[in-house]
Amino acid sequence: MEDRIKQDIKEIIDFNSTSSVEIEDFRIKYLGKKGLLNSYFVEFKSLDNDKKKNVGQLLNQLKNTAQSKLDALKTQISPGSTKTTINDISRTGEPIELGSRHPISIVKNRIVDIFSNIGFTISEGPEIEDDWHNFSALNLPEHHPARDMQDTFFIEKNPDFLLRTHTSSVQVRFMENNKPPIRTISPGRVYRNEAISARSHCFFHQIEGLCIDKDISFADLKQTLEYFTTQLFGKSKIRLRPSYFPFTEPSAEVDVYWGLNNETDYKMTKGTGWLEIMGCGMVDPNVLENCNIDSDEYSGFAFGLGIDRIALLLHQIDDIRLLSENDVRFLDQFKSSL
Ligand code: PHE
Repeated sequence: MEDRIKQDIKEIIDFNSTSSVEIEDFRIKYLGKKGLLNSYFVEFKSLDNDKKKNVGQLLNQLKNTAQSKLDALKTQISPGSTKTTINDISRTGEPIELGSRHPISIVKNRIVDIFSNIGFTISEGPEIEDDWHNFSALNLPEHHPARDMQDTFFIEKNPDFLLRTHTSSVQVRFMENNKPPIRTISPGRVYRNEAISARSHCFFHQIEGLCIDKDISFADLKQTLEYFTTQLFGKSKIRLRPSYFPFTEPSAEVDVYWGLNNETDYKMTKGTGWLEIMGCGMVDPNVLENCNIDSDEYSGFAFGLGIDRIALLLHQIDDIRLLSENDVRFLDQFKSSL
C-alpha cells in the first residue's frame, strides 16, 4: 500500500494540464468522493496499528499534494493567466464588457447626420486660436464691448492666442479657404472662463452652421431651423426673437415650442412651453468681406448651438458636470442610445 501511495504522489507531482476537463478529471480521480484518497482511507481503517502512523502520514501527503496541485492548475486557467487556453473549447466564456458612446457624442452624431442629409459638410479647426479667427474677422475689433460677452482664456505667454470661445472661428477659416457655395457645420469643444456649477462649465461643445450662396435669405434660415428641430426633437414650431451678435445682422435667438403636456415640460420650460436652443442670423457683410467673399454677390446665414445643453435636455440630466466626470456608472446608462 505504501508503494502505491508513493507512486500516486509522484504521478500527482508530474501531472500538468491547462484543460479544464482534464483538471476536473484529475480532481475526481484523486479527491472525488469515490476517488483514490477515499478508497485508501477505507483500506487504512483495517490496517494494523503499527502501520497506521506511517501510512497516515503518506495519505496526508497525498491529500495535500493533490490539493495544492489542483489549486495551481486552476490559476492557470483563470483569467489573467499567462498560459493560453484558446484551444480549449470547454472553457467557460468570459463576459466582454461593452462600452457606450458618450452622451455628447450621441447628440453630436445625431445633429451631424441631420445636417449631412441636407448637404452640409463637416469642418473642424484648432482649439487654440488667434485673435483674428476668434474675434476680429467676426466683426469684433479689439476693445469692442461685445468681447465681454465671452469670457476668454488667453494664453499667458502670448495673449495673441486664446482658447476658442466658439466654433465660429472654424467658419472664418472655412470661408478663407473655400469659395461659395458653402454649407458646413463645425462641431467642437469651446472654452469660456465661467464658474463651474451644475448649470455652467469652463468648456462645452458647440455645433455652428454656415450657409453662403447667391440669394440666401432669412426665409432659408428659418426653413433650415424648422427642418432641424423637427428632425432632432420631433417639434416643428419655432419662434425667432430679435437678438444681437456682432457677426450676424439681423440676429435672433431660436426658441422651440416644447409644449406643456406634463410636469417635466413645465419644469424644463419654466411654465412657458418654449425652450431657447440656439442663436442665429444673417452673416454680416463685413464678415464676408473679411474672408474675401464679395458681399454684393453673396449672402448667408449662420447659427450656433450648445451640444451639452441639448444632451442635458434630451436625457433629462440636471448637472452639466456629469458630462465631464467620466463616471462609468453615469456613462453606462447610455448603452442603449448608440
Ligand atoms: N457664436 C455664437 C455663440 O457662441 C453663436 C452664433 C453662431 C450665433 C452663429 C449666431 C450665429 O454664442
